[in-house]
Amino acid sequence: MSSITKVAIAGAKGNLGEAVLEQLLKAGFDVTVLTRKDSTHTFPSDVTVKPVDYTSQDSLVDALQGQDAVVAALASEALDVQFPLIEASVKAGVKRFIPSDFGGDTFNPKVAVLPGYKTKIDVQNALKKATAESGLTWTAIINGPFLDWGIAVEFLAKTKSKEIEYVDGGDQKYSVSNLATVGKAVVGVLKNLEPTKNRAVYVQDAAISQKQLAGYLKKVVGADGWKETVTSSAEGLQLGQEELKKPQPNGFLIFIGGLKAAVWAEGYGGLFTKLDNDLLGIKQLTDAEVEEVVIKSAPK
Ligand SMILES: NC(=O)c1ccc[n+]([C@@H]2O[C@H](COP(=O)([O-])OP(=O)(O)OC[C@H]3O[C@@H](n4cnc5c(N)ncnc54)[C@H](OP(=O)(O)O)[C@@H]3O)[C@@H](O)[C@H]2O)c1
Repeated sequence: MSSITKVAIAGAKGNLGEAVLEQLLKAGFDVTVLTRKDSTHTFPSDVTVKPVDYTSQDSLVDALQGQDAVVAALASEALDVQFPLIEASVKAGVKRFIPSDFGGDTFNPKVAVLPGYKTKIDVQNALKKATAESGLTWTAIINGPFLDWGIAVEFLAKTKSKEIEYVDGGDQKYSVSNLATVGKAVVGVLKNLEPTKNRAVYVQDAAISQKQLAGYLKKVVGADGWKETVTSSAEGLQLGQEELKKPQPNGFLIFIGGLKAAVWAEGYGGLFTKLDNDLLGIKQLTDAEVEEVVIKSAPK
């Protein structure tokens, strides 16, 4: 397979997309950004910006002409936009598609059947089908929760109000990655096409525990007065199942129960056992470096 020069990225101003774009530019790729026609986002001057209509194949194929790779960094609520994007990638002769996966191990059979991950699985299946019928290839990047982002937006702990949830105990290790690392993983894939072809790659900055995280955050806001709650992933999943039976289910409850299981429950692959860090050129962080990231990212 020839090498990649031209890369199109969709969702380049998102939580993840911005970090991926930065790494693509740093690595010297010729980058085109796909953005919705009505989006008000602005982008660096050294990228080509193509406003697109995701409902129009003509618009997408036109935008993807000459592109070697497509990176979908699309929002969780816009994952279905990848179906027309994959179709257009095939028509435009794109070589590698990186889907908007970027989280828990969707290749773990227990995660793959969780309702909140359905569209990610459907996208993987659409890619497998496209690969069988065309010259398109794909790589999914599995990176665990974003560490710096998860601390900054208070997803992994509520630092300001000193609250942290220990799902299934809090001592078990799980894989985490900083946003920039995920961007470097994208670059690593595009520079290693053959060994990353048509499979998931696993990357982590570190394996940490919730209690370890709490220890670092206590250094930021003090160790006293924390509300540390032990919850059960099984109960979260059960709650999600009950929501599914309701006429108007609460999608967030279904999603969050599954997500917590994917990250922390035993058997869901939240701690990666086989890593592609070496292949992708990503060095893991030491405990001291993880602590530094957590302290730097914590809302003050
Ligand atoms: N591992 C983790 O901890 C973690 C955390 C968050 C997200 N993720 C994953 O990372 C990926 C990216 O998520 P994100 O949070 O970075 O996304 P995001 O910031 O919510 O959105 C990214 C971009 O998607 C585009 N977009 C939004 N709504 C759209 C729509 N209806 N149709 C078409 N495009 C739309 C927008 O780009 P334009 O306006 O330029 O079109 C937006 O800037 C997802 O797969 C998500 O599941 C993982």
